[in-house]
Amino acid sequence: MNIVILAAGQGKRMKSALPKVLQTLAGKPLLWHVLMTALSLQGKQAKTSPIVVVGHGASDVKDFLSATSLADPTFAKVSTVFQAEQKGTGHALLQALSKLDPNEATLVLYGDVPLTTKKTLNKLAKLADGVRGQNSALALLTQDLKNPTGYGRIVRDVEGSVLEIVEEKDANLAQKNIQEINTGIMMLPTNSLKRWLKALRASNSQGEYYLTDVIAMAVKDGVPIRTTQSDAEYETIGVNSRDQLAALERVHQLNIAKELMDTGVSLADPARIDVRGTLECGTDVSIDVGCIFEGQVTLASGTKIGPYCIIRNSVIGEGVSINAFTHIDGAKVGASSIIGPYARLRLGANLANDVHIGNFVEVKNSKIASSSKANHLAYVGDSIVGSRVNIGAGTITCNYDGVNKHQTIIEDDVFIGSDTQLVAPVRVGRGATIGAGTTLTKNAPPNQLTLSRVRQISMQWQRPVKAEKLPSKKVVKKLVIKSVKVKK
Ligand code: UD1
Ligand code: CA
Repeated sequence: MNIVILAAGQGKRMKSALPKVLQTLAGKPLLWHVLMTALSLQGKQAKTSPIVVVGHGASDVKDFLSATSLADPTFAKVSTVFQAEQKGTGHALLQALSKLDPNEATLVLYGDVPLTTKKTLNKLAKLADGVRGQNSALALLTQDLKNPTGYGRIVRDVEGSVLEIVEEKDANLAQKNIQEINTGIMMLPTNSLKRWLKALRASNSQGEYYLTDVIAMAVKDGVPIRTTQSDAEYETIGVNSRDQLAALERVHQLNIAKELMDTGVSLADPARIDVRGTLECGTDVSIDVGCIFEGQVTLASGTKIGPYCIIRNSVIGEGVSINAFTHIDGAKVGASSIIGPYARLRLGANLANDVHIGNFVEVKNSKIASSSKANHLAYVGDSIVGSRVNIGAGTITCNYDGVNKHQTIIEDDVFIGSDTQLVAPVRVGRGATIGAGTTLTKNAPPNQLTLSRVRQISMQWQRPVKAEKLPSKKVVKKLVIKSVKVKK
């Protein structure tokens, strides 16, 4: 099938410099959601590929498409046509006409209606089945809404056949009472569509070429019009304002939360989790409130995530505890490890099993082998840390000389005393102990105590004493008056 996505509108009501279709839902542009559905609907083998009508902010939209196709090559198939002036939905579709395969039906999607499912669109396509040329059916996705304000209304005759679609702004009072609305999504016979679009007139209150006017033309041509509705209302909700975008985000997140719970994940509160990407979970994973998952995140079985954690593009092993307020980005955490509270694992933090990273510890581009610990206030960057290493509070790997990054190697069974600075490049040999407060600038040999410290001395000393401050005359007066009052 041909798929055309209308995405040239400005989205005035968003009051944003960003074109509306690039506003994000679950961390991805609205248009991304529509394209993912379109691409999966056409399938990998399809001769046709999605066509996006761009106009307002066209270069931004094109930039987004090319950036996305770098990461996901299936997006490279997507093409665009330019609508220089936004003269309405019918005019928008007209721009794509020459690209349509006349032997395939045409599905129209909207760049600002992000959550329509493949299942619903397949149902719509089936309804228009056999669409070849002029005399086949036109399928419309409609929706019964309690509050239909703002949408085009489906006008039917007494027998229930669709006659036309009337826009809110052109509707009379009786038509405004109709609760069945046009979602905008429709499947049309391409040959007839070409004719209808060319016959459109902008004789309406908005002076626009309405795509919806083709319905009355189809009726006139005797083309059967069939309608269907989606399983859920949110599938057809369009985003016009930030308010609607926020509301749809909550609906979408709640759906994701329900899916997670269906697969056996415990959520402290399904209304307080945000997944902006793909979250894969093993069995008996539990997630406390306020957590955000971005990109591709895997949580193996038995993982416990404390409240208010942010985890992005990371793999968390079996039975790991991530405690409150931990931030993890581009890291790998081995089984049975304990991370946080208040820990930060950055890009390239690669932890083996049973590693403990405690409060205010930052790990970047470092490999830490099993059963090693850095429990308090430390920075471990560009390092290779062995097994059973203890990194004391306040330890810092000084990896950066202002220009270059250097590596620190800490071998197995090392004990690093508190407040140590390891000035890289530097190596601490197996079993070494580094005394607290050491600034290590040379390699430390294995199995010995190394420390750099000024010798401790003690002496007699008089601590300075603060001179007692006498109250000023004014204050004294006030105090006297006050005390007199109290006496009364
Ligand atoms: C449209 C429908 C209305 C329907 C509603 C559903 C028409 C005339 N009206 O109204 O019946 O109930 O959607 O959400 O079709 N666009 C362009 N070029 C243009 C104008 C719009 O590409 O010149 C794109 C927009 O970017 C948007 C989509 O078409 O993605 C819909 O446009 P919008 O202005 O939001 O239409 P509505 O007034 O919501
Ligand atoms: Ca709209």
